[in-house]
Amino acid sequence: ALQIILMIIIAYFLGSLSGAMIISRIMHLPNPSEHGSHNPGATNILRLNGKLPAIFVLIFDMLKGTIPVYISYRLGIAPFFLGIIGIFACLGHMFPCFFHFRGGKGVATALGMMVPIGFDFTGCFILTWLLILFITGYSSVAAIVGFLMAPFYVWLFKPELTLPVAMLSCLIIIRHNSNITRLSKGEEPKSYYRSKNKK
Ligand code: G3P
Repeated sequence: ALQIILMIIIAYFLGSLSGAMIISRIMHLPNPSEHGSHNPGATNILRLNGKLPAIFVLIFDMLKGTIPVYISYRLGIAPFFLGIIGIFACLGHMFPCFFHFRGGKGVATALGMMVPIGFDFTGCFILTWLLILFITGYSSVAAIVGFLMAPFYVWLFKPELTLPVAMLSCLIIIRHNSNITRLSKGEEPKSYYRSKNKK
């Protein structure tokens, strides 16, 4: 139990290291919480600065989920608690203590935490995300549909994780409320890979 509590605390603090904020500072890029969608995440970094910084942010934010969950997995912590530890990494990303508790939406960190638990449902999730992104052109819609499906994929392959992943999905979808409002008004910007490809 002590191990689990310790890993939860480590996951929260790791999650609080906002990849978008840190990489923007290092690379002297505009503050993502003040530009674009004002969201400190890989999507907004892509929107503001292009592919390379966005890839750095994506990997950085994913690792915040992967590292604590992988360590916990190696420690022999049960799958249900791996899910809980992953949730705390995402909570750190969403409400980072180092950045006035104003964080991102948790998509990259949630993806990162799924990887060490199971390639099967992680693969299903990534395929869904890519498919919806390709069909709709909206990164936010891809994330929302992906996380609506995630509990079902997890239930198929690792049922003991269904509850934590369902909780995480709820959190992430709630964090997309501003996107849902923009989508309903028809104001959500389309995704970036299309406009990029046109160049
Ligand atoms: O999933 C994150 C992305 O879906 C939304 O980011 O910057 O468009 O609000 P953003």
